[in-house]
Amino acid sequence: MNETQPAVTSHEATPRKRLHVITWGCQMNVYDSGRMSDVLAPLGYTAADTPEGADMVILNTCHIRDKAAEKVFSELGRLRRLKEATGGHMILAVAGCVAQAEGREILARAPYVDIVLGPQTYHRLPEMVARASRAGGAVIETDFPAEDKFDHLPEQATPQGVTAFLTVQEGCDKFCSFCVVPYTRGAEQSRPAAAILAEAQRLIARGSREITLLGQNVNAWHGAAPDGGTWGLGTLLRAMASLPGLLRLRYATSHPRDMDVALIEAHRDLPGLMPFLHLPVQSGSDRILTAMNRKHTADDYLRLVDRLRSARPDLALSSDFIVGHPGETDADFAATLALVRSVGFAQAYSFKYSPRPGTPAAGAPGQVPEVEKSRRLQALQGLLRGQQDRFNAACNGTVMDVLFTGRGRHPGQIVGRSQYLQPIHITESASLIGEERAVRIRDVHPNSLSGTLVQERLSA
Ligand code: 5AD
Ligand code: SF4
Repeated sequence: MNETQPAVTSHEATPRKRLHVITWGCQMNVYDSGRMSDVLAPLGYTAADTPEGADMVILNTCHIRDKAAEKVFSELGRLRRLKEATGGHMILAVAGCVAQAEGREILARAPYVDIVLGPQTYHRLPEMVARASRAGGAVIETDFPAEDKFDHLPEQATPQGVTAFLTVQEGCDKFCSFCVVPYTRGAEQSRPAAAILAEAQRLIARGSREITLLGQNVNAWHGAAPDGGTWGLGTLLRAMASLPGLLRLRYATSHPRDMDVALIEAHRDLPGLMPFLHLPVQSGSDRILTAMNRKHTADDYLRLVDRLRSARPDLALSSDFIVGHPGETDADFAATLALVRSVGFAQAYSFKYSPRPGTPAAGAPGQVPEVEKSRRLQALQGLLRGQQDRFNAACNGTVMDVLFTGRGRHPGQIVGRSQYLQPIHITESASLIGEERAVRIRDVHPNSLSGTLVQERLSA
């Protein structure tokens, strides 16, 4: 999943109890933070912009790379002082994947934390808050409970805006050598289609015009169909596309192995399914792909891209790459560069391999020195940046469909997203927010595009 910067949820209302949530990591964590706020709303918690004086602070953490736990501990150090300033009244909770992976360590190192909860137990938060307030001791919930958390979460209370996320699948059974997700999020689980369609209808009723279906391995989704059988993601997308009021659909993140015929045909047949696909490949070397336990070759990926592009010729691709996986040689890295050249990506994320305790690659021989990882990352990012710049430059002068999502940074400006997720700003009335319009691109900036509305031709 794509990374986001630490984000703060804010929707101030009449404060009774104030809840501040800090979110790291992927879009699913952003979604989860919203659901945790929803679950606490009946207890009187409303969102607060800052942690100062809050009754409760939740850190929703990410463990995928880097010094995740260290970031959490340094934030906890800051919050400890705020908690002391409230006479110990503030409830401090650590949620998400660091909580799942290092729950006991968190309580040992930061005994002032009240609640540690894994991603599968959010629906039990009210009970944990009650226990923490009563007992005074720490509450830890990092099991994978037998009941389905989605059955126990309230309907979404907080509107998400013009573009919304909807979790359809969680967990992963792929066990890539480097990845903590199968351990922190557990086994693959798909929500039933009816529940997803009902949630989508609620989002649309509250103004959402674009929905991104989320899952750690979203295209492995296989949920109970409304008529009894089982659907795959292609069929679900068809059902979603027929919902009145919904203009755009996306899904993330996919595994190349789970891209089936029905899903490729959905790209061919559904104009509302955006022609932009995030399809991580991680490496272009078959030797490393095998070591990574990815279960596909570089050639499998290239052939898949060909099939997708035949189905939807305007499809643009995004991907994830890891450099310096244990055992990666110069020749392996050269194969990654070759794959990038042969596909041509509209944008991509690339990372240095970061050993995750408990994963097979962490203890594997042939760990690559840090300086070599940095050198490879720089080379790869240079190549990817060039491809992204060329993709954006090619948009100049063309007409693109833009869904407007909010006001821009400058007065009179509004911003939206192209089909390819590029931010696009124009000077127009805010009444267009929530609408999709044709825009002629007139300028390309480093991280965005700008243009002017294409005036609709008056019918004779
Ligand atoms: N080290 C570096 N990158 C990683 N990713 C996942 N685990 C690791 C790791 N241990 C990257 C993968 C994945 C993305 C979400 O994060 O590229 O697709
Ligand atoms: Fe991690 Fe691999 Fe599963 Fe993606 S497919 S979540 S990289 S184990």
